[in-house]
Amino acid sequence: MFRSLYVKLMVTYSIILIATLIVLGLLLSSFFQNSILDKRKQELEREGNALAPYFEFFSYGLIDVKTLEGQFKVIDRFLNVSIWMTDTTGLIYYVYPESEAMIWRNHRLNDEVLKPVLDGETLTLTGNFGDRFSIPVLTVGMPIRLNNRIIGTIFMHSPVQEVNRTLRDTYRSIWRSAFFSSILSMLLLYYVSRRISKPLTEMNTISREIASGNFKRRVKVTTEDEVGQLGVNFNAMADSLESLEQMRRSFVANVSHELRSPLTSMKGYIQGILDKTIKPEEQDKYLRVVLDETERMNRLINGLLDLAQVESGQFSIDIKVFDINEKIRRILIAHEERISESNMEVEVKFGEDVLSVEADPDRIQQVVINLLDNAIKFNRPGGTISIETWRHKELAFVRIADQGQGIPKEEIAHIWEPFYQVDKSRSSRKVGTGLGLSIVKKIIDAHSQQIWVNSTPGAGTAFVFSLKAVKSRQ
Ligand SMILES: Nc1ncnc2c1ncn2[C@@H]1O[C@H](COP(=O)(O)OP(=O)(O)OP(=O)(O)O)[C@@H](O)[C@H]1O
Ligand SMILES: [Mg+2]
Repeated sequence: MFRSLYVKLMVTYSIILIATLIVLGLLLSSFFQNSILDKRKQELEREGNALAPYFEFFSYGLIDVKTLEGQFKVIDRFLNVSIWMTDTTGLIYYVYPESEAMIWRNHRLNDEVLKPVLDGETLTLTGNFGDRFSIPVLTVGMPIRLNNRIIGTIFMHSPVQEVNRTLRDTYRSIWRSAFFSSILSMLLLYYVSRRISKPLTEMNTISREIASGNFKRRVKVTTEDEVGQLGVNFNAMADSLESLEQMRRSFVANVSHELRSPLTSMKGYIQGILDKTIKPEEQDKYLRVVLDETERMNRLINGLLDLAQVESGQFSIDIKVFDINEKIRRILIAHEERISESNMEVEVKFGEDVLSVEADPDRIQQVVINLLDNAIKFNRPGGTISIETWRHKELAFVRIADQGQGIPKEEIAHIWEPFYQVDKSRSSRKVGTGLGLSIVKKIIDAHSQQIWVNSTPGAGTAFVFSLKAVKSRQ
């Protein structure tokens, strides 16, 4: 039950809220209790002081008991008091109200309470006044003076119940407001916790869907806080997973298609030879087609292996310092035959005799060969291929350009994708697998360098890539 974040938040918040209210309530209660008791004490003292002259008159015999009692009644009306008068020995000789006189008259107070009062102090006590009362009372004891001499004491007791009643009313208002404020905060808490936990729950459900292969759903982002940011990132992750999944699917589809078509044609020709539908004198021709197809498959498999290697984490580049001009020279020599076969001119322009770069020589050779292969393949018959290298600041640049058909603008963005070939029809397109440029791009990326393509349809295509140049020694 406590496993959901929402419930956890609600329970934690509620505990904090309730604890705060209890502490606050207790503090307020004790504060009010003290202040109400204080007020009651002050009232009793004030009344005691107001009575002082009457005691004096009474002691002189100027007023009688009746008048004194009249005064007591006035006080009693709003304080509900019992009043005892004692002599200096603590003997109670007068009790108000009359109904209690039977109980208390002629009792003697002990020194503990009597002495401070006889010393002139005003004594305040709460409790049962030494078990004399069955209910708690607030007692104020004061001296009675005559000619500045203490001739006795007066003790006034007011039941604390009176105080408690006032307190109870106060408590009731405190708890009532606490109750209403908790309901209000609970509603607010409910709303806030929902707001926090809802997107998380949603992300949870959607991530489960993604795990099971459905990449379509996204989280609704409504806030800009951390949860909102998490939502945005979650959606970005889902986007890239979706496109990755799409790529994987089309990759598999492409690979199977590319493998199946040569296999189908090879199977057809071999079957034709075996069941003699292909005449013996034509066999050579068809066997050559079969051989071409096996070469194509071989190229495809090699390309796939390269791509797999480049894409896997194990792809490491072995950085060395080498002269890129020299590398290009060697590659051109190796491809001389193919170039002259296709009647093409190669124009080489090196900005510097030696252009040392820091890169993986084998991988860069692969890049140059792929680009040169494309230039030869897609050049117009008899066209020129131009190869240039130059240095600019910290970088070396290599440009390989042809005078072929070029690449339509809308296709340019796609040529780096595996299997992408501008000419979609298998019969008319040039020999190739569509993997070359995707491998080139991956290698250049691994070197943290860049590759650009500039193509004018009908006029030619130029690929330029950068490499890290080694500082020249001059
Ligand atoms: N120099 C170029 N001129 C015109 N189009 C080009 C050029 N280079 C590449 N392309 C287009 O980009 C596509 C992808 O090139 P990429 O090198 O990846 O594949 P490919 O050459 O067809 O096959 P592979 O390189 O595996 O033999 C090509 O099929 C072609 O349509
Ligand atoms: Mg190619």
